[in-house]
Amino acid sequence: MRIKMKITALAISILVISGCSNANSQPDEEIDHSMMNDEEMDHSMMDMDDNMMEGHMSHDEVVSLNDSTGENELNIPSELERDDEEGIVYTVRAQEGKTELFDGIETTTYGYNGAFLGPMLRLEKGETVKIRTINELDENTTFHWHGLEVAAEADGGPHDVIKSGEEKIIEFEVGQEAATLWFHPHPEGKTSEQVYNGLAGLIYIEDENGKSLGLPSDYGINDIPLIFQDKTFDDEKQLNYSAAMNDDGTIGETLLINGTLNPKLTVNKEKVRLRLLNGSNARNFTFKLNTGDSFVQVATDGGFLNEPVTLNEVTLTPSERAEIIVDFSQLNTENDLALINEDGSILLPFEVSDQDGVVSEIPEKMNNFSLTEEEMNLPVTKEIELFGMMDQVTINGKKFDPERIDFTQQQGVTEVWEIYNKPDMMGGMIHPFHIHGTQFKIISRDGVEPPENERGWKDSISIKPDERVKIAIQFKHKGVYMFHCHILEHEDNGMMGQIKVE
Ligand code: C2O
Ligand code: CU
Ligand code: CU
Repeated sequence: MRIKMKITALAISILVISGCSNANSQPDEEIDHSMMNDEEMDHSMMDMDDNMMEGHMSHDEVVSLNDSTGENELNIPSELERDDEEGIVYTVRAQEGKTELFDGIETTTYGYNGAFLGPMLRLEKGETVKIRTINELDENTTFHWHGLEVAAEADGGPHDVIKSGEEKIIEFEVGQEAATLWFHPHPEGKTSEQVYNGLAGLIYIEDENGKSLGLPSDYGINDIPLIFQDKTFDDEKQLNYSAAMNDDGTIGETLLINGTLNPKLTVNKEKVRLRLLNGSNARNFTFKLNTGDSFVQVATDGGFLNEPVTLNEVTLTPSERAEIIVDFSQLNTENDLALINEDGSILLPFEVSDQDGVVSEIPEKMNNFSLTEEEMNLPVTKEIELFGMMDQVTINGKKFDPERIDFTQQQGVTEVWEIYNKPDMMGGMIHPFHIHGTQFKIISRDGVEPPENERGWKDSISIKPDERVKIAIQFKHKGVYMFHCHILEHEDNGMMGQIKVE
């Protein structure tokens, strides 16, 4: 009986593991099931309630995205105009509105300073910025500045609730280098739904170094932000979050880029800088050109790489960014050109006009990011273990508790954190791990130095099942910050902790 039970368990787990080959769950072939003793195996089978089974099964049904037909020119988020009164630099309003995504149909959506998504806020390194945030929604929200190094009181985490109809002014000095950041809501248990409904906007930080590099920077012409989000629309073409919702990450078959359905991008024959943001609740993307041509990555989440890195594809998990440069003056434009996903689905067709543009060289040296010997040799002082799936997700075995501080760290002191994604008997899945209020450096992935395109500032990192990542991290400001999985449903399900910087 015992043996039979074990065999069944093995058979099921092998079945599940081998069927799970989508972007969001990474089967780990290397898990040695013989390592599990009978007791563990039986125990883990018992623990697996129907809910978990079903949820995990739904992994292998992760839909691929519909191809973009390219019938709509890509929307470029407007650059928010600066205010003039009372020293306020920007006013950002969270609103509900109607958006015509499908011809003749109004979809109810959320947005900042508009019906859907948000504008781009341009900040200059060194300036002091006051932002007035206003909640015009019928529910609580917060305004979180993802990737921004600010004091926790300006960070907009779950403690920073702004009630419906209320507002708050935050003030901070932009202390970090040029980068593409973003902002989104963070109310406890409601982040995923509010982001899904459309709350997300961009922040461009600029500095002298960035401007001296001569990279494409004509906003909307050759400097193009691309916010990738997948959605499910119901029969009425509405975003029905509770119907679409999956505890393991809400995935949709319809891609919107900058809120545009079936987008295409018209470019000149020149180098074009694409600022990629995976703004999805849960879907991972691996971007490549349909022709197989390479492109060059110039920036990570939090700044420029030291040198441009030539790639054929780049993977971004939720909340990660990469700036890439595609040289349309060098591509054969006789073919249909498009940005595609790993599985071949067409994300963004390009139309290349006859117009030439400026084709300047990408400088060989762009930044002076460094990971010192000293930082690399610091002992690990914080260990973080990510585990579970569905609503059973935990960090170090615990779920988020707003009253509990999980770690403390001294302001301005570098520590090494080791983050481990502990696989479960079904393999586990990638968790994109994010920390508020700071940009950090990856020391190693499973003991090996990170790939070249990750040798730059990061605020979110993809961690595979059974992978162990070491990072060097420092906080410039004080207060209580969140760290969490950026699969938004995992975050809402409690895969989040708090660090107090003092
Ligand atoms: Cu993108 Cu806790 O944030
Ligand atoms: Cu964040
Ligand atoms: Cu997760």
